[in-house]
Amino acid sequence: MSTALAFSATDPADLWAEAGDAAAALVTGEPDAIANMANVAALIWQAIPDLNWAGFYRFDGQELVLGPFQGKAACIRIPLDKGVCGAAARLRATQRVEDVHAFPDHIACDVDSRSELVVPVIAGDRLVGVLDLDSPLPGRFSAVDQAGAEALVARIASALIS
Ligand code: SME
Repeated sequence: MSTALAFSATDPADLWAEAGDAAAALVTGEPDAIANMANVAALIWQAIPDLNWAGFYRFDGQELVLGPFQGKAACIRIPLDKGVCGAAARLRATQRVEDVHAFPDHIACDVDSRSELVVPVIAGDRLVGVLDLDSPLPGRFSAVDQAGAEALVARIASALIS
């Protein structure tokens, strides 16, 4: 399989659709959840502009634990009652934060982060973890980005179960 990915769309919805197609193709036939998370984190990092962190936290049954990612070294464990990631996991609902400085519970892993998009990864009724995207730009993530990231995650969630 070729791993040379190229993304050409300039419209955000089209770009997310390309990324979703590429992610679905990458995980097809591969049962290893960590390998799939690693490839999907790298793919998003390559495809989606203006990110300073992209990756997964895995739910271990109690809290979120750092998974495969691109970007600077980050906090390892996040309780479900803490941070943007904890809220997404606890509420099983995407958290789109325009300005992390205004989010009282934000955990600052990288001081450069200004906005954040966290999508819960749910397979069946099981919480697998979260996909966390950070940007150094305030208000980086639109409703289109949210819909695109949610659609991508929905397509690959079953390949992220360990
Ligand atoms: N900012 C996140 C923590 C994870 S890092 O951004 C990679 C939060 O508040 O949950």
